[in-house]
Amino acid sequence: MNILCPVCKKILYREDRSYRCENGHCFDLAKEGYLNLNLKNSQNTGDNPTMIKARKAFLEKGYYQFLRDGVNALIDNEDELVDLACGEGYYTSFFNAKERIGIDLSKTGLKIASKSDPDGIYLLNSIFHDPLEDESADVITTIFAPLAKEEIVRILKPKGRFIFVRPDQRHLYELKEVLYDEPYLNETKNIDIEGLTLEKQIPIAQKREVPQEDLQNLFMMTPYFNTTSDKDKEKLKKSESLNITFAFLIDVYRKS
Ligand SMILES: C[S@@+](CC[C@H](N)C(=O)[O-])C[C@H]1O[C@@H](n2cnc3c(N)ncnc32)[C@H](O)[C@@H]1O
Ligand SMILES: [Zn+2]
Repeated sequence: MNILCPVCKKILYREDRSYRCENGHCFDLAKEGYLNLNLKNSQNTGDNPTMIKARKAFLEKGYYQFLRDGVNALIDNEDELVDLACGEGYYTSFFNAKERIGIDLSKTGLKIASKSDPDGIYLLNSIFHDPLEDESADVITTIFAPLAKEEIVRILKPKGRFIFVRPDQRHLYELKEVLYDEPYLNETKNIDIEGLTLEKQIPIAQKREVPQEDLQNLFMMTPYFNTTSDKDKEKLKKSESLNITFAFLIDVYRKS
């Protein structure tokens, strides 16, 4: 897949520890190995180090291994793959694709991803302005992250696939039962993406006992963490462990 210069949109060619376009714009790889192509002084700097640390600690315990395996089973080893909002590359680095590009705005995430996966290409950039050519990817994945619909359609090759992973109805229900008086189910209605057809929807779930030390990390990974009052946060600290449902929907779209 060709990476494009964020200044002039010409192709960037790798030269040792840099990428350079024919107009002489040059971008150096960070010492960890990721490439910063973000020219904007964006307010959004992606997940912060505390969030990344919590997610890494939780994921390393293997709770989401079954999901990673489930998504990987949909990927072909000849695929050129882009993981939009790859975070620290827990999924990206594992995918059995011919070429893997991960894009995220979190420096902390990309440092971890590029250090642990030297064969992958990790780009610091917004997923809403990808530095990639039109029709260059066989597969795009987005896992628990914002949906950059237009860019996904632009980058995918004809007949290319988009794999979107999101929480299913009962995902983390037992956690919400502890935190809230009236826990609610997640919204799961189908999402239309103009230019793509939803080919299949694969529900995948497991129930696991999660001890207190991992509960806090899990809670920090969720969108509820920032919206829960300190009083409610205390409730979770009282649980020694919880038997939690991990339930996801894998939506597989194809470019029409
Ligand atoms: C919940 S995390 C998921 C990360 C990864 N896919 C995973 O499941 O481990 C969401 C990610 O989206 C990234 N992100 C949010 N907005 C973004 C944007 N506009 N461009 C690039 N990355 C973004 C954050 O930095 C974070 O790494
Ligand atoms: Zn250029």
